[in-house]
Amino acid sequence: MGERIVILTGAGISAESGLGTFRDAGGIWAQYDLEEVATPEGFARDPAKVHAFYNARRENCRSAEPNAAHHALARLQAAHEGTVTLITQNIDDLFARAGAAAIHMHGELMRARCDACGARWPAPLRMAPEDACAQCGARATRPDVVWFGEMPHHLDEIFAALGAADRFVAIGTSGAVQPAGNFVREAAAAGAHTLELNLEPSEASPLFAEARHGPASALVPDWVAQMLGARGGI
Ligand code: APR
Repeated sequence: MGERIVILTGAGISAESGLGTFRDAGGIWAQYDLEEVATPEGFARDPAKVHAFYNARRENCRSAEPNAAHHALARLQAAHEGTVTLITQNIDDLFARAGAAAIHMHGELMRARCDACGARWPAPLRMAPEDACAQCGARATRPDVVWFGEMPHHLDEIFAALGAADRFVAIGTSGAVQPAGNFVREAAAAGAHTLELNLEPSEASPLFAEARHGPASALVPDWVAQMLGARGGI
């Protein structure tokens, strides 16, 4: 049985695809007030402003392409003999478009949901407050994303994978947001080897057994080649 690998990705893995990160200089939270566009209270106060924020991100996402890091993780999932649990904090669909299966703990930009009946469907490019739910007709539709103060998705599955991990790798994330920022501690407590692949040291770097710094599009393909080569095969 091959190693059980758990991977956590953040905005940094999509940066070279042209999608913004949040906390780098000039990042998304330097351009927008997260209280206004990424909280339930902000949505209740001004749904049109929130829809405009996600409509713009959906447009950016549609014109972006997966980069070498997304494709390398898809290769790892296809070829690694053990299990590869790919968790992402990102709401873009670049993993799906690269052929990788990702657990979207912060939801998905390209999906919509109804706050009245819970129905989910592929989001139209532009959403608006007056949109009616296709299932129940209520004007209670929203982007299917997790806002600050809301519970991330799939945490049971994620913590089960962390507890059984042989290797934990964090890619392109500052570790600034919980619970994702603590996943490295969970994995280390389970005896996993922990590796950070990031453009520069993050605030979580000291928690990792190993850290490599540089762009994800270079670091990730090299690391995947190392993981697949370790099999002593091709
Ligand atoms: N290659 C690798 N890492 C990169 C690159 C790159 N090309 N560019 C930036 N990074 C790194 C930065 O150094 C930073 O550590 O990616 C990280 C991005 O950190 P954040 O902007 O904080 O993004 P993230 O960690 O994904 O934020 C977590 O916060 O706002 C919420 O829900 C949002 O999912 C997001 C969560």
